[in-house]
Amino acid sequence: MARVTLITGGARGIGYAVADALLRQGDHVAITATTTGGVMRAEHALGAACGDPGRIAGLVCDVRDAASVELAMRTAVERFGGLDALVNNAGVGVGVPIAEMPHDEWHRIIGVNLTGVFHCCKAAIPHLRARGGGWIVNVSSLAGRNPFVGGAAYCASKAGLNAFSEALMQELRYDNIRVTYVMPGSVATEFSGREAGDGADWKLLPEDVAQVIVDVMNHPARSLPSRIEIRPSQPLRK
Ligand SMILES: NC(=O)c1ccc[n+]([C@@H]2O[C@H](COP(=O)([O-])OP(=O)(O)OC[C@H]3O[C@@H](n4cnc5c(N)ncnc54)[C@H](OP(=O)(O)O)[C@@H]3O)[C@@H](O)[C@H]2O)c1
Repeated sequence: MARVTLITGGARGIGYAVADALLRQGDHVAITATTTGGVMRAEHALGAACGDPGRIAGLVCDVRDAASVELAMRTAVERFGGLDALVNNAGVGVGVPIAEMPHDEWHRIIGVNLTGVFHCCKAAIPHLRARGGGWIVNVSSLAGRNPFVGGAAYCASKAGLNAFSEALMQELRYDNIRVTYVMPGSVATEFSGREAGDGADWKLLPEDVAQVIVDVMNHPARSLPSRIEIRPSQPLRK
């Protein structure tokens, strides 16, 4: 039976690459984005790339809104008959020192990167249990382990996500639900308003992170790689 995976923030960057890799191995995939235009464009491109548009569904969802998350989860389950995996990929970040950080910006970063993951896990767990098990993969960051100036909110959100993931892993392991978190270093995407092709050819590509995530999800049932770091082999020397 083909696996059904919901990926938050799947219309671009790392989430898009994970969707593409799962579709190429024959899975069913629901992606979310915050805008109808963005999600429709990605749904169309992913369907064309895998040659089977019936296996991809694009859903609009703001992970900060628990009702929006519940609806997206239910829609994916109705469309594909169940849920086997959740990839919490949606994330935002800005490099602003705390003294200058607007309150709204703090709440947006914690709301998407941490509370949003809670909303998605809570909504997904009953569906994963109904299938007898599955995967939750949280896309964290090496920033959660290596704080930097201007990154207090982002680093705190990812450090919190790491702790959340480790606790959740222990809560769900005997339900056959495996929880893992992946901490990438710098990836060439449009994250935080950057240009994806900003000439930084030393960075990871989204496909590199996707490969790690898909490999993990294909591990045999006895095995749980629960914490993964992936970094560029040769970052710029300081
Ligand atoms: N790029 C890096 O260097 C790097 C390094 C380590 C970890 N990461 C992590 O990797 C993940 C993916 O980032 P990326 O690099 O692929 O960046 P990206 O291209 O900017 O993608 C971010 C995704 O998050 C979605 N998103 C933002 N706010 C959301 C909200 N309120 N509700 C639902 N979705 C929302 C965006 O949706 P829309 O398309 O609708 O805007 C977009 O799909 C993030 O968690 C990030 O922290 C990135």
